[in-house]
Amino acid sequence: MRSRAWVCEDKKHITRLNIPKPTGMLVNMYDVQEIRSDFPILNRVLPNGKPLVYFDNAATSQKPDTVIDAMTRYYKTYNSNAHRGAHTLADEATTALETARESIASFFGADPSNLIYTSGTTEAINLVAYAWARRNLSEGDAVVLTEMEHHADIVPWQELSKEIGIELRYVPLDLGRMCLDMEAYKHALPGAKLVCVVHTSNVLGTRNPIEDIIALAKESGARTLIDAAQGASHERINFKELGADFLTLSAHKMAGPTGIGGLLATNEALSQCGPFLTGGQMIRSVSTDGSVYRDGAALLETGTPRIAEAIGWGAAIDWLSKIDFTQMHDHIKSLAIMAYEGMVQIDGITIYSDPRRPGSSGTISFLHERIDSDDLAMLLDEGGFALRTGQHCAQPLMDALGVASTNRISLWLYNTEEEIRSFLDHLKMVCDRFGA
Ligand code: ALA
Repeated sequence: MRSRAWVCEDKKHITRLNIPKPTGMLVNMYDVQEIRSDFPILNRVLPNGKPLVYFDNAATSQKPDTVIDAMTRYYKTYNSNAHRGAHTLADEATTALETARESIASFFGADPSNLIYTSGTTEAINLVAYAWARRNLSEGDAVVLTEMEHHADIVPWQELSKEIGIELRYVPLDLGRMCLDMEAYKHALPGAKLVCVVHTSNVLGTRNPIEDIIALAKESGARTLIDAAQGASHERINFKELGADFLTLSAHKMAGPTGIGGLLATNEALSQCGPFLTGGQMIRSVSTDGSVYRDGAALLETGTPRIAEAIGWGAAIDWLSKIDFTQMHDHIKSLAIMAYEGMVQIDGITIYSDPRRPGSSGTISFLHERIDSDDLAMLLDEGGFALRTGQHCAQPLMDALGVASTNRISLWLYNTEEEIRSFLDHLKMVCDRFGA
């Protein structure tokens, strides 16, 4: 498809939409241009001469200079393995790895001893499935999931179901409101041993009522796992106050590098875990007769740690700590509502998100009734707009919506009103021209 010569620049096809100025913009307090100046990639001009407009933040966020510099500094000046050598560089690497753990844990209101570095949310959920669930669930035990889950929070449980015969109960969507059907959740809960719920949907942008979900699960005696891959970059989550047993994180969606994320687990949950990956680092001693393992989080980290990535994530957390999340959320929400109000005026567009919902993350899924979603993404890319198209690793959600895929814009703290305006103009021009 990419080789087809779509031409979109012809200005005579552009009709300006009547988009009201968003209300509630905190222009004076929230300096988006200052934020943008920390992200070098946002100055990127694409090969076709269009400036980049990055609307694919639910897939991965961009990285500020401070993160890139921290990782480069590690590789250039103290690259060494951590928790192993008895030399200056090894000591510096170990200190940096553990300082990052302290900053990250503290950002999430947790103790460093409750944070396990993983490769991201997917590995964190697999870790729970292997290290906790395989030891604490048995045939017939029920795990509550939802139709809104990312595949990362479905497939590990399906594997466990095949292996030991656990029952999977899926909470459906309330399609009228693009949220979970909480009545169905209450019906799914009795007797369940574990509830796994996404904090914020990567497709709809819906922020789930996780406080209520956790409270009800606790009353019913079920443990809880919250997938915060999307939520953690949109609101300050306090692990201790939240009261979940497990919280999973991905650094790369919150200004950090790829390749690292984490699992926050309570002491009680950790005490019920067995090993996940085995080998170096997670052991106290090894002999040819057998091995003695470490306890707690240390049992669950194996091999050479992700040192550069942890340092980068720590730098991202330090950078994010300076952001007022309430202002950030208001900024993103006002942009998302502006985008939504413009998109509903464009003929042929169906929207599957409601960014006016409280807590919504600024992610909007949509389709054009006559333009194929891949073609639409390509036509938008020609205008410089980076967005995602496809199933978003959420096929059960696509099935519930009755679609094969969606186009998706996902906004973050550095997006601007001007970007939304030019997106709406370009989308309208494309739809008028190719969707008639
Ligand atoms: N799960 C990420 C997304 O939604 C990659 O795009």
